[in-house]
Amino acid sequence: MANYSLKINNETHTVDVSPDTPLLWVLRGELKLYGTKYGCGIAQCGACTVHIDGLPIRSCSIPIENVDNKSITTIEGLSEKSDHPVQMAWEAEDVPQCGYCQSGQIMTAVALLERIPNPTDEEINRAMKGNICRCGTYSRICKAIKAAAKNIES
Ligand code: FES
Ligand code: FES
Repeated sequence: MANYSLKINNETHTVDVSPDTPLLWVLRGELKLYGTKYGCGIAQCGACTVHIDGLPIRSCSIPIENVDNKSITTIEGLSEKSDHPVQMAWEAEDVPQCGYCQSGQIMTAVALLERIPNPTDEEINRAMKGNICRCGTYSRICKAIKAAAKNIES
């Protein structure tokens, strides 16, 4: 066990866990941030996506020792009232079905729009292809990303 200092959603948290503990275990188990989901546990589905220093990362597969002192954002930290433009577009387009994959989808979409403010279909498909949705909401996700891009632009 060792102490790690994590900056999560602009708050500093200290946790005492073993170095190889996956970040997702700390988010959900230690800090009770349940918005980030466990899907596959092997970096294949994207349900656990969070931002680390602004990049979308699979939190199930990154050990805590690798994120010490880095800036982490989870779905809870995206906006105070769930009113980030991407969240608003998700609501307007009625994207979620069961909802399980959606926090990961949104975190990946936000990172995409920060990197490419007005993405093409191909850029959206490339960025989102690692986020699996067993309910098949892909076309609504694509529409919502385009709507969010327009809203951010205007
Ligand atoms: S739970 Fe992390 S990628 Fe599936
Ligand atoms: S909305 Fe059900 S898994 Fe994506």
